[in-house]
Amino acid sequence: AEIVIVPDKAAAGALVADHIAGLLRANPETVLGLATGSTPLPVYEALRSRLEGVDVSRVRGFALDEYVGIDPAHPESYRSVITREVVEPLGLDPSRIRTPDGTPAGIEHHGEEYEEAIRAAGGIDLQILGIGTDGHIGFNEPGSSFASHTRVKTLTEQTRRDNARFFDRIEDVPMHCITQGLGTILRARHLVLLAFGEGKAAAVAGAVEGPLSASLPGSAIQLHPRATVVVDEAAASQLT
Ligand code: F6R
Repeated sequence: AEIVIVPDKAAAGALVADHIAGLLRANPETVLGLATGSTPLPVYEALRSRLEGVDVSRVRGFALDEYVGIDPAHPESYRSVITREVVEPLGLDPSRIRTPDGTPAGIEHHGEEYEEAIRAAGGIDLQILGIGTDGHIGFNEPGSSFASHTRVKTLTEQTRRDNARFFDRIEDVPMHCITQGLGTILRARHLVLLAFGEGKAAAVAGAVEGPLSASLPGSAIQLHPRATVVVDEAAASQLT
């Protein structure tokens, strides 16, 4: 992977947003892979001021993952987060931005439909990624196959604790999710993984320099010909 060390989150956001704005200018039908969580927020924030005069009406987007067993209207469903942080502020067409369907009706057949929708859109041009403290990308928790497709996974205790900050109580954090697989992520044309802070340093080092291992799903990025890792000094601190 190409490693870019930036002074802070704002610099990371500006760098990645500049790149995305360039893609959208060159190709109004760009297909973006969208991450949720805290990490990509500076990118979405920085994009707001960079889209003047850019036609975003045909941009397509696919979220990485969604909780299972949460009302899609819940403010912390990833559908709601993507609507609030990406679709509305950037003026994207909500019908062209998809999130995996985590409802009981959705989870049974939805994985393959989601894969098909990504294929039909021509594949993802740029996939934004964060990384979990346990090394997950998307919600591919340790033990995920490198060839995996969109499917239901069980969240680890560590991930549920990490994400409890978005909910009133840890008991409210869903137990399951539906996530693009590592195989899905690896088919995107460009991966941009962001990570900030000391808490991500071990996961970043494992992903970039560790052995390829299903125990550290982020290490799958080593199989990708074009992966860019944008980190602050703290997240880079365990890289050799
Ligand atoms: C979110 C996702 C996760 C997060 C990861 C880091 O769509 O797929 O892999 O990127 O859990 O979360 P934050 O950014 O909140 O530290």
